[in-house]
Amino acid sequence: MSIIIANWKMNIGIADSIRLSSALASYAKDHFIDSTVVLCPSFTSIVAVSNELIGSSIKLGAQDCSAYEKGAYTGDVSAAMLGEAGCSYVIIGHSERRSWHEEDLELIRHKLIAVIKAGLIPVLCVGETAEQRSSGVYFDVVLSQLTSLEVIGDIDEIIIAYEPVWAIGTGKNPTEGEIKEMHDFIRSSLRSFKDVGSILFEKDPKIVYGGSVNSSNCKDILKIDAVDGLLVGGASLVYEEFCKILS
Ligand code: PGA
Repeated sequence: MSIIIANWKMNIGIADSIRLSSALASYAKDHFIDSTVVLCPSFTSIVAVSNELIGSSIKLGAQDCSAYEKGAYTGDVSAAMLGEAGCSYVIIGHSERRSWHEEDLELIRHKLIAVIKAGLIPVLCVGETAEQRSSGVYFDVVLSQLTSLEVIGDIDEIIIAYEPVWAIGTGKNPTEGEIKEMHDFIRSSLRSFKDVGSILFEKDPKIVYGGSVNSSNCKDILKIDAVDGLLVGGASLVYEEFCKILS
């Protein structure tokens, strides 16, 4: 079963998040959706959205979390708090956090550990910039981002989101061949971590694609056999558009 994750970023507040999640919960009740659907609202909307999703098949996620378990970390939100608020998934290492908040591999590793310890499922984002793609180093970049996972040990469930930075919010997409090639590369890299014993996956990691996904291109992307799902930004904020993606 594929997984479709909506990343609402910092776009809508509590009232709009309630409206959108309640409309999507009704849609999910009335229609067969052949995917696990996860909504990731802003921190302030998580509890309200959680209430709207009671009894729904739609799951809840967060867009980030603290690397720390608890303590004097003003402004941070821990993975355990997100679990208490109803989240089962947490996006970690989104390129917007890597660039605007200078999140590095070590910090991302600690966030992944925090999410796993809290019993939640991390969605680790990886992807190259336009310059890195044109200079041909994109496999090296993604491999180095995946090294945040090494030495974590036992991971029950994880999702890797391949999101080329140049495709996020730009209307540009890699070709189907480029998506397949990178997803295959990620899958074989994870297998090699496993083979050297630095990491143990209880369930096969799912690898999803993100970056300018919309209702016109989603079906073709989902058809690529190496793609297990989608991470959708802008198009997940528009009810009709997102329903078309789920249909
Ligand atoms: P986009 O964002 O779908 O608006 O390109 C995707 C993401 O950043 O997760």
